[in-house]
Amino acid sequence: MAELVPPSALLERPRTLPGLLSKAEKDRLIERAFLGLYRWYTARSQETRNWNADKSFDWRKLRHDLSTEIMTVIQGFFAVEQYAPDYTSALINSVRRSHGRSHFQMRWGSEEEKHADAWENAVLFSRQRTPQWIAEYKERLRSQQWHLPFPDSITNMVYTVFQERATQLNYLNLMHIARGKTDKLHLQGQTDPVLAKVAQIIAVDEAAHYNFFLEGVRLFLYYYPQKTLEAIRHVITQFSMPAASLVPDWDKFFEAVYRAGIYGPREFSRDVVQVVFRNLGIESRKRLEEGIKATREVPDFESQTTQQTAIWRSFDYGLVEGDLRRLHVKIQDYEKEIGFAELDPTEFVENPEVPK
Ligand SMILES: [Fe+2]
Ligand SMILES: [Fe+2]
Repeated sequence: MAELVPPSALLERPRTLPGLLSKAEKDRLIERAFLGLYRWYTARSQETRNWNADKSFDWRKLRHDLSTEIMTVIQGFFAVEQYAPDYTSALINSVRRSHGRSHFQMRWGSEEEKHADAWENAVLFSRQRTPQWIAEYKERLRSQQWHLPFPDSITNMVYTVFQERATQLNYLNLMHIARGKTDKLHLQGQTDPVLAKVAQIIAVDEAAHYNFFLEGVRLFLYYYPQKTLEAIRHVITQFSMPAASLVPDWDKFFEAVYRAGIYGPREFSRDVVQVVFRNLGIESRKRLEEGIKATREVPDFESQTTQQTAIWRSFDYGLVEGDLRRLHVKIQDYEKEIGFAELDPTEFVENPEVPK
C-alpha cells in the first residue's frame, strides 16, 4: 500500500539547514513584528500625539524680536521638514510590499507634514519673513527633489534611525534655548514659551519615530546581524542630515546650529551615535569594525567556527533579544486588548543561530 502523504507536508518548503530559520521565515517574522508594532503605534499616536500645527499653539504670542541666529535655525528646520512629501513617497515605495512598514510610512508622513506646517507657522508669526518671502523660499525648496540616500531598504532604515535621533536632538536643544537654558552668551534672553512648546511637541514625535525605526533595526540585527551591522557601519561613516544638499542656505544654517550648541560633530558622536549604539548593544565603533572584519577573514579548518560566531561577538545579542521579547509582549498586550490575539497572535521566535 502506498504511503499517504499529508497535504501539508507537500506544501512545506525546504530549509537551508535543519534547525535554522530560512530567509522566508525570518522575513515573515520581521514582517509580523512590524505589522503589530505599526498597529500599536497608530493607536498610540492618535491617543497621545494628536496635535494640530495651527490650533495647538498660541501663534500670536510668538515673539517678534527673536535673534537672527534663532531665526536662521527655525528657518532651517522649516526647510528640512518641507521635503516631507519626498521623504514619505520615496520611503513608502521602497517598502511597498510590506503592510506594516508601508502603512507606517503613511502615518509617519502625516506626522512629518505637521512638523513642516508648524515650523512654517513659526517663521510666519515671527514676523521676520514676509508671507511672500516664505512662498518664494518654499518654491525654491520644492524645485529640488529628495531621493533615498542608499539603494537598499535596510541601510535606509538604519539611516532613518540616526536621522530621527539627530532631528529630535536638534529640537530638544532649541527647546532648551527657548526656555532660557543655555550657556551661550549670544543666545541669552531668547526665551519664548510658544517656541519652546513647538520644539518640545515636535521632539516627542521624533522620539516616537526613532523608537519605531530602532525596533525595526533591532529585528534586522537579530535575524540578519551581518547585513545590519554592515549597514550601521556604512551609515555612520557618511552621515549627513537629510536635504543638506538641497536647502540653498545650508551652510548658514549649519553654522547657526553649531554655534548655538544645538548640533554639530560633537553632538552627533555623543548624543546620536553613542545613544543608538547603546540601544543596539554595540559597545563601540572599534568593536563594530573588528566584528565585521573578523567575519570576512578567509576561513581555514580551525577558524571556521570562530568566524561564524565572530558576528555575535560584535554586539550584545542578549540585550537585543531581551528588547525584542519586550517588544513582542507590548504587541501581544495590544492584540489581547483588541481581540486579534484570539484569531492571529504575533509570536516571538528565537533565532537558533544566536549562541546560547
Ligand atoms: Fe520631523
Ligand atoms: Fe521624524
